[in-house]
Amino acid sequence: MTSIAIPSGMPQYDDAPRFDVARVRADFPILDREINGHPLVYLDSANTSHKPRQVLDVLGEHYALHNANVSRSVHTLGTEATEAYEGARAKIAAFINAPSADEVVFTKNSTEAINIVAYAFSNASLRPDGDPRFRLGPGDEVVISEMEHHSNIVPWQLLCERTGATLRWFPVTDQGRLDESGLEDLVTERTKIVSLVHMSNILGTVNATSRITARVREVGALLLLDCSQSVPHLPIDVVDLDADYIVFTGHKMCGPTGIGVLWGRGELLAVMPPVFGGGSMIETVTMARSTFAAPPARFEAGTPPIAEAVALGAAVDYLTGIGMRAIQWHEKELTAYALDALGSVPDLRIFGPTVPVGRGGTISFALGDVHPHDVGQVLDSLGVQVRVGHHCAKPVCSRFGVPAMTRASFYLYTTTEEIDALVAGLEQVRKVFD
Ligand code: ALA
Repeated sequence: MTSIAIPSGMPQYDDAPRFDVARVRADFPILDREINGHPLVYLDSANTSHKPRQVLDVLGEHYALHNANVSRSVHTLGTEATEAYEGARAKIAAFINAPSADEVVFTKNSTEAINIVAYAFSNASLRPDGDPRFRLGPGDEVVISEMEHHSNIVPWQLLCERTGATLRWFPVTDQGRLDESGLEDLVTERTKIVSLVHMSNILGTVNATSRITARVREVGALLLLDCSQSVPHLPIDVVDLDADYIVFTGHKMCGPTGIGVLWGRGELLAVMPPVFGGGSMIETVTMARSTFAAPPARFEAGTPPIAEAVALGAAVDYLTGIGMRAIQWHEKELTAYALDALGSVPDLRIFGPTVPVGRGGTISFALGDVHPHDVGQVLDSLGVQVRVGHHCAKPVCSRFGVPAMTRASFYLYTTTEEIDALVAGLEQVRKVFD
């Protein structure tokens, strides 16, 4: 079992949940690769995670042995495919403790999931019989934060343009935390929906949501949490979170690309108008009008990403087998180790929390005035893969006065040796640009 040298100040518990990182790494074929003559050091899991053999096998087997369309075939293969697809939905519901599998809507990714909610709002606003909770117009407000990924900004800007509603946002503190000091003024009776990131893809901050949730309930608004970066890394229980919607994406949690999830409270999904029209989402169609299926089918028009959903079910089995608490703990230790190690690099500025509390294993930084693209290129030449740029969170870069950042992000297969390789690589960058 790989053990991590915990920096001072980090509690050590004998009974902390643990797993064998070396054995986990053996499940990921890509981790055997070399890049530019060096062993691969993959520190870009917030961008996309790698996939274990257990998921790749299920994806291949589905196409090889069970391929058919779902929900429309009476033949054996059709039944097998439908059972596998709906079985995946049930696994994902259990993974996030959703009260019902019918509350899990398969989407292409988190972006599409957020757009479905935003378009449901404006579609409801066009209908005189639209549920008042989704009807939006001038005077109404949508609240987000300065910490959001573009996928949780642009859909709401477009919704406000379509409806005349106003977009407002929580600021971010110098420490990279959500500034909740103006909560009562920001979230008011005018607020229709608050849509917040649960864990920031750029700062790593994990937002504590209970105060905001209480305020959202007080004013009768709805709450959406973008859990794209938290569902892969922490145990998430939608009942405990007490949100109205959460969204996440499969490819960041050991699953394939092209599959994401919108979870919504059953009674809300039941009264939400459809967004995409087509096959599979209807109850009946005449030439003049159509009526619609109950959720989740209402929001899954057309042939869905079947094999991808089934493989996401396998990813959930894989993560559950290791244990989300153990994964969370592993990443907490890695984060403490990395914050300590990066802290020793001269001229390195970390953006976001510098303590391993209320944050996950995603660390963005600047190295002196070396441009992040140069940092990324030198690191790549050493086999170290990090993301550089604005991380689809330009307002965060503006908040900290930089055009771009370098980001290292960890997952269950990350080791302290890889963090050491990053730090050694940064020393190399300093030498090149000194
Ligand atoms: N949202 C992904 C990232 O942060 C793409 O890298």
